[in-house]
Amino acid sequence: MSAATMTRSQLAIQRRAGVLDTEVRQDPAAFRILTGDRPTGALHVGHYFGSLQNRVRLQNAGVDMLVVIADYQAMTDRIVQPDLADVVVGLVADYLAVGIDPSTSVIFAHSQVASLNQLVLPFLSLVSVAEIGRNPTVKEETAAAGLATVTGLMFTYPVHQAADILFCHANLVPVGLDQLPHLEITRTIARRFNERYSPGEPYFAPPEALLSAAPLLPGTDGQKMSKSRNNSIPLRASADETARLLTKARTDSERVISYEPGTRPEIASLLSLTALCRDCTPEEVADEVGKAGAAALKAAAIEAVNERFAPVRARRRELAADPGYLRAVLAAGNERATAIADGTLRAVRELMHQRY
Ligand code: TRP
Repeated sequence: MSAATMTRSQLAIQRRAGVLDTEVRQDPAAFRILTGDRPTGALHVGHYFGSLQNRVRLQNAGVDMLVVIADYQAMTDRIVQPDLADVVVGLVADYLAVGIDPSTSVIFAHSQVASLNQLVLPFLSLVSVAEIGRNPTVKEETAAAGLATVTGLMFTYPVHQAADILFCHANLVPVGLDQLPHLEITRTIARRFNERYSPGEPYFAPPEALLSAAPLLPGTDGQKMSKSRNNSIPLRASADETARLLTKARTDSERVISYEPGTRPEIASLLSLTALCRDCTPEEVADEVGKAGAAALKAAAIEAVNERFAPVRARRRELAADPGYLRAVLAAGNERATAIADGTLRAVRELMHQRY
């Protein structure tokens, strides 16, 4: 979505992101961030530039951070996932390889934190079916997945996401535009819980969205980069695989390379990828390649990706060789998240008069 198609409230949230960024830098200890991913496959370079890089920056600035591996959410459009355990452990490897530090940040899977899930029941009582039904992201995902029926889990997952955020009293949630409706539901739930059960002293602070400033990196076909579209470059890909994936990237028949995202999306995608890897602008890459054409552009992209991600990939290979360690990191994160969620559930029960 470009700035031109953003609504006024989205633009306000985007402006707020700049302010929040300054506040975070001034007083990192005032913030707790909850962020996360669905375990549907390997993280790719789009995730890296869109969110992982930012998470590591915030963590290193001293912000308290929890990362949820949303394994129930992955079930919204795939009921059986036989390789789930490998995907989850692979996610942990991706996180650590890019620099998430398990000695400060908490990495956990929400299915493993029973008390977090129990919060979903009272939260469901705070929103109406009509409100959930209006959620545009759920509608889009349901349509995109081509589902014949919508399960209760699919329909209510934004409420489950509210539990992911509120169980640990996160006050900042780094997200893309598509997640804003979920954050709105989370804020509604926090406010209504306070009104109903703790009117004197609000128990949940409505969290704020930290809208990601990074431009969306398109895939190798100019469309949204996504594992399911087969147009992504996984972080863990080898240099050779990267070369293969980028060599088959779509281009166009114009000889001279120029940065025109509107009319030449495939070329623009390769230019953006190269520029992000090199910390320069797509126009600079276009000028440099110029008349040399698409083959030279692909060669530049391959070199840039392989150079940028060489250290991450080397670290990931080491980590992947020790799955026992990765499981131990996750188990420790699950335990820390459980201690937090237990405390929240205890307080919630108190406030709801469930003390027998
Ligand atoms: N819905 C997010 C996604 O699809 C994943 C997610 C689950 C999440 N729980 C969250 C994101 C809580 C932020 C906060 O990518």
